[in-house]
Amino acid sequence: MKFPDLRERSREPELLDLGGVPEAEVEASLADIRFVNTWLGGHRTFERLLRPLLRADGAISLLDVGCGSADLPARLLERHGQLRVVGLDLKPTHLRHTPPQVRRVAGDVFAPPFAERSFDVVACSLFLHHLDSADVSRALGGLWRLARRALVVNDLRRAQVPHAFARLVFPRLFRSPVSVHDGLVSIRRSFTPRELRAAFVDAGLPEPEVRRVFPYRLAALAVRREP
Ligand SMILES: C[S@@+](CC[C@H](N)C(=O)[O-])C[C@H]1O[C@@H](n2cnc3c(N)ncnc32)[C@H](O)[C@@H]1O
Repeated sequence: MKFPDLRERSREPELLDLGGVPEAEVEASLADIRFVNTWLGGHRTFERLLRPLLRADGAISLLDVGCGSADLPARLLERHGQLRVVGLDLKPTHLRHTPPQVRRVAGDVFAPPFAERSFDVVACSLFLHHLDSADVSRALGGLWRLARRALVVNDLRRAQVPHAFARLVFPRLFRSPVSVHDGLVSIRRSFTPRELRAAFVDAGLPEPEVRRVFPYRLAALAVRREP
């Protein structure tokens, strides 16, 4: 097996981001992402990162950026009824599966239709790696401005082991060849802990807590100290 060069983030685009993918393939690929969330740790990671923030007070508002089907916040809502959730995604087609209890908003992370500090917590899952490196800090700065209390980023960790695993397993696991392609590209576009921390610092955010989450995920949390 030939190993890719993972020293730098890849700039190869994901097919779903490029557009032009037939409708049925988009649907199958979104279903594959929901499958990953259920069986490869997406829900577990999202809930583990957000639960401590939700416990702090009762009713809170959450913005999930690049929410896709918004199955992650929807599951969280089942367990934390006092949450108010808004899901933002660039692609209206991706929002089609958003459950009714999540308010769906189609829009770009670089022009979010919300006022500053509109949400207690702003979160994103498997979203940040969609952006090129030059745009990552700009996006983080914008997301931080929307958050009253905390920004939580949950993404993939770039490494050979998950990439080799994905090469073997994704073609057998996924319904859509688009998911196999985009899943592998996602790993090559993702971050090392050092890169993710540097992006927060470059954006002028407080020093984040960056941690590795099993299996090969990365999480970064920045908390607002001042009122
Ligand atoms: C891999 S999906 C992740 C979906 C979901 N967060 C999850 O973890 O299952 C990434 C999503 O980010 C969205 N996205 C990409 N670029 C975006 C942008 N500039 N603004 C808002 N959403 C964007 C895509 O349309 C896609 O639905």
